[in-house]
Amino acid sequence: MITTQNKRVLSGMRPTGKLHLGNYMGALYNWLRLQREYDCYFFIADFHALTTDYEDTILLPEYIHEVALDWLGAGLDPEKCTLFIQSWVPQHAELHLLFSMITPLGWLERVPTYKDQLLQLGNTEAGGKDLSTYGFLGYPLLQAADILIYQANYVPVGEDQVPHVELTREVARRFNNFYGTSPHVFPEPDVLKTPSPKLPGTDGRKMSKSYNNTIQLADPEAEIRAKLKTMVTDPARIRRTDPGNPEVCPVFDLHKVFSSTETQQKVREGCTTAGIGCIECKSWLADAVVRELAPIQERRAAFAAQPDLVTEILREGSARAALRAEQTMREVRTAMHLPQLPPRL
Ligand code: TRP
Ligand code: SF4
Repeated sequence: MITTQNKRVLSGMRPTGKLHLGNYMGALYNWLRLQREYDCYFFIADFHALTTDYEDTILLPEYIHEVALDWLGAGLDPEKCTLFIQSWVPQHAELHLLFSMITPLGWLERVPTYKDQLLQLGNTEAGGKDLSTYGFLGYPLLQAADILIYQANYVPVGEDQVPHVELTREVARRFNNFYGTSPHVFPEPDVLKTPSPKLPGTDGRKMSKSYNNTIQLADPEAEIRAKLKTMVTDPARIRRTDPGNPEVCPVFDLHKVFSSTETQQKVREGCTTAGIGCIECKSWLADAVVRELAPIQERRAAFAAQPDLVTEILREGSARAALRAEQTMREVRTAMHLPQLPPRL
């Protein structure tokens, strides 16, 4: 029987604080399934956070902890997958440095996210960050090191990250060409396409921390209900007596993800005939979201009450990841004719 059990999957998230429903449906929800089918490595990309947020790092420990709580709350299971912190596996930095020697600048300058982000975040005249740094240009190369240090086969990421996996494949190919061993040190990883519905936030735009329109996994019920109560609806439905069109309503987009088909049918029927009001419709949505989050929040709270356990989980995961990473580094050093580390160094 062909199995996927021994195929390695790797993905990471930057620690930017508590996760929201968009992060959950876009990534974490898929990881829950993957941890049962593959040898999964999931890490908190704290080095990556520094590529843009290097000036004020005071919140970094809190953000790392919140992400870990959200992961464990959602049901990532340290018995089934390896959960770790990037900076606790220094081999990521070591491989990144070696890759920086062989990667032409043009490859990095051509990565589409580089110019996009530079324009979006890097306008210092508009109060943006100074992103004309070495580290920011190297962001996707660090990501290549993250992936290749585990000789990963699959990388579950969103559409925006596809160019980074493409670069990873090019770096792997270049390394394998220069330092030809048989078999090659690095496999060329593939993007693992996973369903990721685009969730609107409460203002109807894409749910995103930077728009301040999110519902967080850890939001208490009252807050979820309050946020959804003010969510934008079909703009043409002004009065209670106006029929609405669910297909253009962001509230209905969330119903499609969280509500039962029966509830969705009730909404379609009630909305288009003005049989229900938006307040009622939103309260049904809140019921569904609260129901989805209840078990997550219960587990999350249990871990939040044991911060030392969370640290221990990440420590163990990082130790396991480092063993695997060091195995790759030994192959890399041999291929590049670098001296192996003496024992006990
Ligand atoms: N760049 C990714 C993001 O912003 C996070 C990340 C860092 C990552 N290293 C990775 C994702 C390696 C997958 C594999 O979402
Ligand atoms: Fe949107 Fe529901 Fe109001 Fe219809 S009833 S416009 S689907 S919130």
